[in-house]
Amino acid sequence: MKQGTHKTILITGAAQGIGMAFARHLSKTGAGLVLVDVAEAALQKVATELQSAGTNVYTKVMDISDAQAAQALQADILSRFGGVDVLVNNAAIGPEKNSPRYLIDKPKFWEMPDELWLAMLRVNVFGAQLMSRVFAAGMMDKKWGRIVNITTSLDTMYRQGIGAYGPCKAALEALSRIMSQDLEGTGVTVNVLVPGGPVNTGMVPADCGFPADALIQPEQMCAPLAWLCTEESNNFNGRRIVAQQWNDQEPLDGRIRNAVAPIAWPQLGAQSQFPV
Ligand SMILES: NC(=O)c1ccc[n+]([C@@H]2O[C@H](COP(=O)([O-])OP(=O)(O)OC[C@H]3O[C@@H](n4cnc5c(N)ncnc54)[C@H](O)[C@@H]3O)[C@@H](O)[C@H]2O)c1
Repeated sequence: MKQGTHKTILITGAAQGIGMAFARHLSKTGAGLVLVDVAEAALQKVATELQSAGTNVYTKVMDISDAQAAQALQADILSRFGGVDVLVNNAAIGPEKNSPRYLIDKPKFWEMPDELWLAMLRVNVFGAQLMSRVFAAGMMDKKWGRIVNITTSLDTMYRQGIGAYGPCKAALEALSRIMSQDLEGTGVTVNVLVPGGPVNTGMVPADCGFPADALIQPEQMCAPLAWLCTEESNNFNGRRIVAQQWNDQEPLDGRIRNAVAPIAWPQLGAQSQFPV
């Protein structure tokens, strides 16, 4: 098990928004960072900023749904860092790619191009599955690891105008619960982290009708992620944290009481009946 400052943390979608905030915050913990994105220039800008402050940063321009690229990255990281300790599945294609006014105009499901629907499914769901499959094995070998999946609030999963984005986040939420059960007892945990409302990033453009400073700021997501990267969260598995309700000034049991629930929708009840 790696201690404190020597962890290697892989963040997908790190070129802007919440992923960039994660990278900036975690760079201050002394961790080595692997930053992945498709946006080359923006990713390089973040890397240069953090490297000039002394952080060990490795960048990879790749699509997280590309299996060959994921495998090549795994081999690269093994030789440079000896593996990944924390994987943050943050990258996603947002509903603003369908319409920058999606919260106002609420485009109908039949108005969404098939290619974009399928791209969201591929990146937002399969991308997280692929990266987790590729990096979980090394974590299990070391008997320590973290997978943190960024999903969204329940009502966003079925909000009108969101097209495939919400249903894809629902799929990732369900997948996260399966992952957490599959990894139970291995030393590798899987948890979900959500902001708890719209965040001031490119995914919520000004055309959506909210002033940027009224939104949740991306930095709000950082404290619970930083905690998940510590040994204090060793037995914390299969949970979802709402960042907006996570108050770092409170004792841990208060934070957990206010901001944490099981992953997915257990309140719906177990409705399937299996033959006995
Ligand atoms: N912004 C919000 O209101 C909000 C709310 C709830 C959850 N989230 C989630 O938070 C996460 C971060 O979102 P954000 O608001 O920072 O969005 P963002 O659009 O600002 O950043 C997403 C990043 O992912 C990258 N990306 C997209 N496709 C990729 C691919 N195939 N491979 C690699 N990188 C890719 C983009 O280039 C971009 O840098 C997402 O999972 C999003 O669904 C956001």
